[in-house]
Amino acid sequence: MVGDYDRITIPTLAHVSGAGGRLRGLRCVHTVLGGSSAVSEEDIMDLACLRLDLMAVLTLRDGLPDLLHAVHLVPRPVEGRDWATLAPVHPANQQVSCIELIDALEEEFVRERPVREVDQGKDRAILVSVTTGSRGEAEDSMAELAELARSAGVEVLAEVIQRRKHIHPRFILGRGKLVEIVLTSLRLGANLLVFDQELSPSQIRSVTDHTDLRVVDRTQLILDIFASRARSREGKLQIEMAQLKYLLPKLTTRDDALSRLTGGIGARGPGETRLEIDKRRINDRITRLGKELKAVGEQRFHRRSRRRKRDVPVISLVGYTNAGKSTLLNTLTKSDILAEDLLFATLDPTSRRLRFPEDMEVIITDTVGFIRHLPADLLKAFESTLEELFEADLLLHVIDVANPSWRQQVATVEAILAELELDDIACLKVFNKIDCLPPEEQVQIALCGDGVGISALDATTLEPLLARAQEMLQGGLQPGRGGTGERGGEAAGED
Ligand code: GTP
Repeated sequence: MVGDYDRITIPTLAHVSGAGGRLRGLRCVHTVLGGSSAVSEEDIMDLACLRLDLMAVLTLRDGLPDLLHAVHLVPRPVEGRDWATLAPVHPANQQVSCIELIDALEEEFVRERPVREVDQGKDRAILVSVTTGSRGEAEDSMAELAELARSAGVEVLAEVIQRRKHIHPRFILGRGKLVEIVLTSLRLGANLLVFDQELSPSQIRSVTDHTDLRVVDRTQLILDIFASRARSREGKLQIEMAQLKYLLPKLTTRDDALSRLTGGIGARGPGETRLEIDKRRINDRITRLGKELKAVGEQRFHRRSRRRKRDVPVISLVGYTNAGKSTLLNTLTKSDILAEDLLFATLDPTSRRLRFPEDMEVIITDTVGFIRHLPADLLKAFESTLEELFEADLLLHVIDVANPSWRQQVATVEAILAELELDDIACLKVFNKIDCLPPEEQVQIALCGDGVGISALDATTLEPLLARAQEMLQGGLQPGRGGTGERGGEAAGED
């Protein structure tokens, strides 16, 4: 490499695979022709971010080599620093064997945390949130990101929140913070950075180029979870479509970072080999998927119109992810749908028949859970699934009151319903998991009049819910969001 009088640029090293240990197996030796400081901040950043074995800087005097200054990383910080400096020596007078030094360092790193642990297929991540908003908001969102990570099978090693006046256009984080994160990842054996913010292609590039860690953002994490959960053909098609649409703008002409960018969690999803195809082929695939989805959608339409002909009212469960929708459906219909303490356990819509106490039959459907910052494209991808909701005569908005942020979750769900133009359908709030609340709060909910309190796990608590739902279906009483009663009138007309 040749630089100019005050800097050199290290090229992308993505094609240089590591030596199998913690350190990269690469040493950088460079000269400084001008300036007085030997090892610069820039050198330390490269050393840390690229996990170099050693960074050595040769200073000159009167055009001849003067001193060799060397720094290397250390597994445990010494005096608050993650690197150590060797005493400067004349290059001809080097006493330390580089190889021995690096071997010893590598051994120390391994003793701190064996590499093998890292390689057992499970991703080990540091979660990062960079925000210009309030800390509280960032913490809430971070807690959710941690849940998402857990649902994706990722082990969370550390969480970093940085508040900034402006988001750094290139690295998102400040450079100093980035170095700190890289050093933490080195110490903890992390192989993945998960950002709570959506990253632009160039930001992902900058971070992956400078850190040697895989980088995913919130959207990709959600996509990965969806990809691993989709069961039906339609669900799978929708997810593939969303994944490709997410990737397309991120594909640029040359992309060494791409393999890291597209690997996803445990390299699920479209997979690296498939993603090496170019944009045109991805576009072709998107077009084909669109056609297939349309065909599946038409079948669904026919199914629905058959249902309509039978004139059975439809109740749809909506709500934030993990609110307890599937559990409620199971308890109501005594069925056995997957209900798990994982985000987005349900992806494909499920419908069941339900007989009300007063001999009325309805169809009840469970849908994909909502989440804040649900990417618009993803929402679009689920349009045909969510179309089910347009057929609903009544929405049951299931709310997890055991979650401290339930009010915000209600607002998110209502905003998404409004975005989908579903806010004119009658909606009943169902305050779920009241068993987790102290008695006085249970009473408050019972008295609030804005909905019904239940515990979806306990069938005996569901009677008031069924009574209210039946009343609303039969009587045109339309509380809930935007419940103007218009739609109720229409429904009554149809009946
Ligand atoms: P997604 O599929 O992510 O949209 O979730 P969901 O809304 O379908 O939630 P699910 O029914 O899978 O329930 C999530 C978790 O909450 C499960 O671990 C349930 O056992 C638990 N849960 C559901 N209802 C109750 C309840 O009334 N009380 C308590 N304590 N836990 C509940």
